[in-house]
Amino acid sequence: MPTYSRITGTGSYLPPRRLSNAELAAELATRGVETSDEWIVERTGIRARHFAAPDVTCSDLAVPAAQAAMEAAGVAPQQIDLIIVATSTPDMVFPSAAAILQHKLGIAGCPAFDVQAVCSGFVYALTVADAMIRAGNATRALVVGSEVFSRILDFNDRTTCVLFGDGAGAVVLEASETPGILASDLHADGKHVGILCVPGHVSGGAVLGDPLLKMDGQAVFKLAVGVLEDAARATLAKAGRTQEQIDWLIPHQANIRIMQSTAKRLKLPLDKLVVTVDEHGNTSAASIPLALDHAVRQGKVKKGDLLMLEGVGGGFTWGAVLLNF
Ligand code: UT7
Repeated sequence: MPTYSRITGTGSYLPPRRLSNAELAAELATRGVETSDEWIVERTGIRARHFAAPDVTCSDLAVPAAQAAMEAAGVAPQQIDLIIVATSTPDMVFPSAAAILQHKLGIAGCPAFDVQAVCSGFVYALTVADAMIRAGNATRALVVGSEVFSRILDFNDRTTCVLFGDGAGAVVLEASETPGILASDLHADGKHVGILCVPGHVSGGAVLGDPLLKMDGQAVFKLAVGVLEDAARATLAKAGRTQEQIDWLIPHQANIRIMQSTAKRLKLPLDKLVVTVDEHGNTSAASIPLALDHAVRQGKVKKGDLLMLEGVGGGFTWGAVLLNF
């Protein structure tokens, strides 16, 4: 039985409609909502985001991301024996986006399910896939983060609607004799449900409650900075590594200030930080695999590099995965 799992290919996809801050601000102004490029850049580092067309779903974005990851890995869809999609914006209440993605990829039979851990979803999904591979329950997994957060944004709330975007990222994770994923550290604390949530739900043929995202940004900010440092240190300790050995820190892309502060707390130079929040905004569960794929395709992340992936978000959830790429 192989002892490890390893990422053998990455892929990502952004819907074509790109909105700069200025373009979004102009659209919001028509609703009487006031914001500016200057405020968004200074407080978040975001300069643009991509929004999916109204008829495009989570699984639609996942298809090209998954195909690119499989192509990079040299793996055919028929060889995939596990599909996990991390998302909070699935196509339907059920079945899972993963089952729909499986069918759109032209395959059938392998287990497919969604993981719901909001912006920590991808590190949760990667950890589950790693555990299934090491237990001998899968050999070639497709692990995807895909989101259409534009669907759950309140465009009358300037404190949240300028922050998020749509997109998908994917990896192929294969059984391996050499170490890929070295350690994971996952957490949740449900007492913070109210600081980041979409409280609405479907009941009796109607949506009950508010189906749009609510966030207490400052509360999330304060919690995020502390837990990201803790998760990174715990993961390093489990793997017997030190922070100086990290080649690239790839955190959830929510706010450049949180990301830089995490790097500084870990005493990592800022040029080891992978940043895509400027062009993608916060794409929740998609942000880490999107950032990873961009860094791979830019030639930054190379085979053998030590990567620290970190997620934090609604739940409250957080976690980290340390891996040899
Ligand atoms: O993905 C899950 C993880 N999520 C996060 O990590 C998000 C964490 N939180 C944050 O990134 C930040 O807290 C925000 C970017 C959401 C907000 O930044 P902040 O520096 O905490 O700003 P603030 O909430 O303290 O607001 C400062 C001011 C307020 O005005 P007053 O009360 O000082 O007059 C806001 O009303 O900025 C105002 N403001 C805006 N102004 C222009 C809030 N949103 C906007 C806006 N445009 N879009």
